[in-house]
Amino acid sequence: VDVPIFQKGRNTSCYKYVGEVIKGPADTLIDMPSYLGPTLRFRKGDKVKIYFTNDLPSEQSNIHWHGLHVPEAADGHPKDQIGHGDIYVYEFEVINRAGTYFYHSHAHGATATQVYKGLAGALIISDDDEEAVDLPRGEYDIPLLIQDRSFTKTNKLSYFGGVDGFFGNRILVNGKPNAKLSVNRGQYRFRCINGSNSRIYKLGWSNKMPLVAIGVDGGLLAQPETRPYIMLAPGERIDLWVDFSHMKPGTELLLRSLAYAGFMPHQGMQNNEHGGMGMSGKGMDIVDMPSKKPGHLMRQSAAVDILKIKVGKNSAANQLTLPNKLSEIEALGIQDADNGSTPRVIRITQAMDATMTPLFNDEPFPQDLVSVDPDEIININSAQYFSITHDHGGMGVQNMTMMSMAHPIHMHGSSFQIVKRSFKESGDHRNYATIKDGFIDAGWKDTVLVVEGEEVALLKRFDTYSGLSLYHCHNLEHEDNGMMRNLLIR
Ligand code: C2O
Ligand code: CU
Ligand code: CU
Repeated sequence: VDVPIFQKGRNTSCYKYVGEVIKGPADTLIDMPSYLGPTLRFRKGDKVKIYFTNDLPSEQSNIHWHGLHVPEAADGHPKDQIGHGDIYVYEFEVINRAGTYFYHSHAHGATATQVYKGLAGALIISDDDEEAVDLPRGEYDIPLLIQDRSFTKTNKLSYFGGVDGFFGNRILVNGKPNAKLSVNRGQYRFRCINGSNSRIYKLGWSNKMPLVAIGVDGGLLAQPETRPYIMLAPGERIDLWVDFSHMKPGTELLLRSLAYAGFMPHQGMQNNEHGGMGMSGKGMDIVDMPSKKPGHLMRQSAAVDILKIKVGKNSAANQLTLPNKLSEIEALGIQDADNGSTPRVIRITQAMDATMTPLFNDEPFPQDLVSVDPDEIININSAQYFSITHDHGGMGVQNMTMMSMAHPIHMHGSSFQIVKRSFKESGDHRNYATIKDGFIDAGWKDTVLVVEGEEVALLKRFDTYSGLSLYHCHNLEHEDNGMMRNLLIR
């Protein structure tokens, strides 16, 4: 599959990946004019060649294939960004399993602004194993790329992210505000991608029906998981099975983000999540008050509508039942890890200076973009056991309605498995209770949300490709500010 992708600065506030691709019928919602790039559809085994031209007048850029296991030169490492007028060829074989993936800019220090302005799109992989399962297809299989944005009075994108992130006041699905979808009375697969810079959603249905997850970052789960709500952090994907067959024609319902206890900004930082109200008084409570006025701000923990659905009178010709077995997932074992039961610890820390920017193990991303510490060198064809810890030692915010910031940690290369998630005894269990049932830790993942007080252990294999790889926070402002490190596989 040859896909030429051009990057264009359309006006001062918006960029776009433009390319010729073969479009499927399910792209109706995604192909309405928007700033997003085309939905790319690959099949496992495809040899892909993408000719990328940087047409931006004055910025370096590149493309990263989020969740795809590709050679170093095709991974979109910041060292491989190109300048205006240059061409970069991404060449790789699709070796990932079928699933919902994502592509976006990974420009050095400019990922947040470039993704915000539009340099992102959905990427869907199919394969034989998935095709053997009776799942919704064609117009019943819909990608939903969810992002928050703010607009000026003249409808230009406005960006005001800081060290803590960016929180816009409008929710867009596939680049559309006030997104609506008419459905038939049948079963759907909604492939939700959180393409937001920083906003963490707590997905739920307005009619309180449970959510049924059939897939996560790296494709189908072994079996469906049913939850009252699901947390979806930037970079994560969740595939939902939604059955409208029993609903009356004319039924309206909403996919929403439900209110939760929220995450506090870093101490001392002015944060736009709180509408500039600082950290006391009204800014702290959890009110359901999304604002749609330009310039108004919306807290990420506030309830907000994502997608409005209307059930039509037609019944799907092909009625499906939710399979109780979706795929085969071979569990990685700690005994297979190179480092056995002594994990490589990734501590989420904060810079000791006034910025208090979040970092890994107190170290920012190297200035030369390529250095690695001795403990960041990994043997090729090994499995590694990691433990990510997030303990800022308490921020003195007991009894307040917010937790310290949470970080979606993403690793490039092959997907990993989460082996354990634990929350410390002395943590804020009351606030944690508003989100803790929303984690789906099964299946293959490439991004995991780590909340303050948690320790998340994971196992990951490093095979097929040697060279430089990355892990970083997928809060894109955190990433740009140094919450990213290299790994060298050799
Ligand atoms: Cu989606 Cu390195 O990121
Ligand atoms: Cu990635
Ligand atoms: Cu972060």
